[in-house]
Amino acid sequence: MTDQYAVIGNPVAHSLSPAIHAAFARATGQDIAYEKILAPLDGFAAAVRKFFGDGGKGLNVTLPFKRQAWDTVNFHVGYALDAMAVNTIKLEGGKLIGHNTDGVGLVADLEQNLQFPIQGKRVLVMGAGGATYGVVHPIYKREPAQLVVANRTLQKAKELVIHFSSRRDPVGGISAKPYDQLSEAHFDLVINATSAGLKNEMPPLPGTAFAEGALAYDMVYGKTTPFMKFAAERGAKAVDGLGMLVEQAAESFLIWRGVRPQTAPVIRALRRKAEG
Ligand code: ATR
Repeated sequence: MTDQYAVIGNPVAHSLSPAIHAAFARATGQDIAYEKILAPLDGFAAAVRKFFGDGGKGLNVTLPFKRQAWDTVNFHVGYALDAMAVNTIKLEGGKLIGHNTDGVGLVADLEQNLQFPIQGKRVLVMGAGGATYGVVHPIYKREPAQLVVANRTLQKAKELVIHFSSRRDPVGGISAKPYDQLSEAHFDLVINATSAGLKNEMPPLPGTAFAEGALAYDMVYGKTTPFMKFAAERGAKAVDGLGMLVEQAAESFLIWRGVRPQTAPVIRALRRKAEG
């Protein structure tokens, strides 16, 4: 019987995940079906129970449910442990296992697709919400020279630093900064993990933040955000998060199916489609 998978979110209509997983399944010869589930905002846990009760094998979780997914699963593994957010659920031995593949997906896009090794780089992550929690530990593992988290609400960035530095597998050396303290700083990599781009806004980042040859990465995909435009105007290379989306999907596919599909052809096809 065909194994059933799905992405669950609200909204979910525009999710590219079904197309990405269908392409992975074709390329690897895996017999899976992958659908979209729109869960009511107050009905996430019930929708998850129903999906697995009906025989489903695995779920991707998208906004706004990644935190609730962390509370819903039976066990957390890998980066889901300290990310406090789950984007991939696998049914194993009757238990729901929660993973987080977002950070690994981001690092794979940076290092493999964009050929941008993080080691020794000065890295700024903007935002201190769920998106940042999902990527901090995998970035840290790649040994940046500096890891700064900037946030409008400084207290949230400070809480993030305390959270990660007080874990059993601590992430040390992150500093929390307000944007107005970045005017003297220069970064090789600036990652926008805020939701500002979705509202056509951008964080109050000083234009001097980009070092020579800097990469500006927006985790939002499918459009040129104000941050990307700002960065490009100041000489940085600006990219969106489409590659991260495909890479995190490939990691989920690996967790579920034991095979990691090639991502480059899928990224190319989605870019072609997006450009019409
Ligand atoms: P998510 O889980 O998607 O990260 P979130 O927890 O609501 O969502 O966090 C959104 C992040 O985007 C926050 O860091 C928020 O900053 P504040 O904590 O100061 O609110 C940030 N953000 C949203 N809009 C922004 C804007 N226009 N400028 C700067 N930061 C913004």
